[in-house]
Amino acid sequence: MIRNVKKQRPVNLNLATIRFPVTAIASILHRVSGVITFVAVGILLWFLGLSLSSPDGFLTASSIMGSPVIKFIMWGILTALAYHVVVGIRHMLMDFGCLEETFTAGKRSAVISFAITAVLSILAGVFLW
Ligand code: HEM
Repeated sequence: MIRNVKKQRPVNLNLATIRFPVTAIASILHRVSGVITFVAVGILLWFLGLSLSSPDGFLTASSIMGSPVIKFIMWGILTALAYHVVVGIRHMLMDFGCLEETFTAGKRSAVISFAITAVLSILAGVFLW
């Protein structure tokens, strides 16, 4: 009997064939965007401090912001923040029972969150450039 159970266990599990549902991807990205936001708070506070320190500090901050690489990093930070807030609100709506607790509804709200984040990300790009 025990021998039969062992035979049914998966062997050579191929991780490349595993596909995550969109709800799982939304959840993982929410954690990643939270960590990015956490790191970004330090960078943005340092930047704010520099720009408010003196007229020279403001000019230094302005010239740093002129760099395309820094603009791209800022755009990434704003996109991560937008995603974190949008999916955070989705999460709280689910917690409060405002969204149906089914897999179909979860998939739909995840896709809608991605779409809203894409729009906010484009707006952040327009604002920065
Ligand atoms: C400085 C701002 C923020 C930082 C650094 C931050 C960071 C994080 C991190 C690291 C997590 C992951 C926790 C985990 O998965 O174990 C998290 C979760 C969460 N955040 Fe934020 N967050 C911020 C702002 C916000 C805002 C504005 C909202 C509101 C929309 C929000 C809503 C949430 C929710 C609902 C969760 C829980 C998700 C879950 O239970 O899976 N966060 N946050």
